[in-house]
Amino acid sequence: MLENNIEKVLILDFGSQYAQLIARRVRENHVYSEIVSHLITAEQIKKIKPKGIILSGGPASVYSKNAPGCDEEIMKLGVPVLGICYGMQLGCMMLGSKVSPTAAREYGRTICAISGENRFFKTLPQEITVWMSHGDIVTELPVEFESLAHTENCPYAAVKHRDRDFYGVQFHPEVTHTPNGSRIIRNFIYEICHCSGNWKMDSFIEKSVNDINKQVGNGRVVCGLSGGVDSAVTAALIHKAIGNRLSCIFVDNGLLRNFEAEEVVKTFKENFSTDLHVVRAQDRFLGKLKGVSDPEKKRKIIGHEFIEVFKNEAQKISSVRFLAQGTLYPDVIESIPAHGGPTVTIKSHHNVGGLPEELGFELVEPLRFLFKDEVRKIGEELGLPKELVGRHPFPGPGLAIRIIGEITGQRLEVLRKADKIVIEEICKAGLYNKIAQCFAVLLPLSTVGVMGDERSYENVIAVRAVETTDFMTADWYRIPNETLGSISHRIINEVKGVNRVVYDISTKPPSTIEWE
Ligand code: XMP
Repeated sequence: MLENNIEKVLILDFGSQYAQLIARRVRENHVYSEIVSHLITAEQIKKIKPKGIILSGGPASVYSKNAPGCDEEIMKLGVPVLGICYGMQLGCMMLGSKVSPTAAREYGRTICAISGENRFFKTLPQEITVWMSHGDIVTELPVEFESLAHTENCPYAAVKHRDRDFYGVQFHPEVTHTPNGSRIIRNFIYEICHCSGNWKMDSFIEKSVNDINKQVGNGRVVCGLSGGVDSAVTAALIHKAIGNRLSCIFVDNGLLRNFEAEEVVKTFKENFSTDLHVVRAQDRFLGKLKGVSDPEKKRKIIGHEFIEVFKNEAQKISSVRFLAQGTLYPDVIESIPAHGGPTVTIKSHHNVGGLPEELGFELVEPLRFLFKDEVRKIGEELGLPKELVGRHPFPGPGLAIRIIGEITGQRLEVLRKADKIVIEEICKAGLYNKIAQCFAVLLPLSTVGVMGDERSYENVIAVRAVETTDFMTADWYRIPNETLGSISHRIINEVKGVNRVVYDISTKPPSTIEWE
């Protein structure tokens, strides 16, 4: 929890898939927000002193047996509360309304008619498009309530309590399918909660530098660099705080892209005047991966080797007590699911950069309250180069999970060349900053082709490009045909051993972004 005088809006999570989006919408409007369990008590909230509280949506029905509830005292704290979907139903029920199942589940875009004038809908037109996703609605409203809006199937699409600052919306203002949603959230935090909007990146940097100094004192910090934006911004913040008492370790695992290792070292030297340890461990990683095709095994081997190599190198740096990590807010929330239930391992990843506690370091995680786009803004503020700050994410296990099947030096070379062409063509078409992530994948099969008059039987490259902001869901990017054409033409002509290129048009879910 971020302390001090930064204004906060708390989001009580009832298991919504959109809780993170609510937090982002609030922060976009310059108010810090944090997601907490619905089990938080009114007493705990009092200590946090939030300016507002949002009750999220959730998959349950308020009447079902295990429906998640919340401390009713929260409604008496005098802090404005906004309930969204399930949150609205729960709040309304606690304040005397009746909630019932609808005859037909309402899902998708709906026109919502706003009745009269209210600060909550300030500057909005009388009719707005909203996104609905529910099975229950509020069906009876006591006299203490006022209805603010309705849709064809929902008589109380937005409500307000007359004596308390409780507002409820049946629709989802946090999703982009509700075009005025961000404005509604803004109205809640400024017009109802009276926030001033003091969540700004420069104040974050100043505070973060103070916190690092407080935590680290005169100590030395070691930070693993991956070449990605998170670790670079982490290092830059720590460097700003403690200067050359920061040591960085960069492990070249042999699974990086074309000239990537050289670029990381160059960028580092141009931007930091501190100690850098480069460990060339290609042979060690490739040796351990020999003959391994199973994706989970690859990930485990790489994760394990990384820890060993990092540990050995860190031991060479005298008197290090702290380890800096670029953990982001989504990693933090994902590791504490709302209902504490077991989560299924889709891929044992995302934590390859996460080093185990047995290493004996105390962790410094200056980005643990930030979303990726906020990290990018901090990077810009800190003066890191644009190319680094805007870089597409690259997974810890690197090209190993983009070579389906066994990894060999020769297959790595094929993939590196193809990947370089994909990125070059995407940049040439001016698309790099519009696409969240794009790359090439080498498939474990050969197909027949004809080159000149000869039959060929060679590799297939798949091209993947996605648009997403949170990387938890993603859509495939519609790359224009001409660009797809030049990518394919160049790969087949310039990369020896490839005679076919395909384009991946799967969304996440049900697919994932990486192929393994
Ligand atoms: P998936 O494939 O799960 O990927 O849809 C979502 C995002 O996470 C990245 N990714 C990883 N990042 N270590 C990382 O640091 C990993 O093991 C890892 N696996 C996937 C992926 O590139 C995408 O941005």
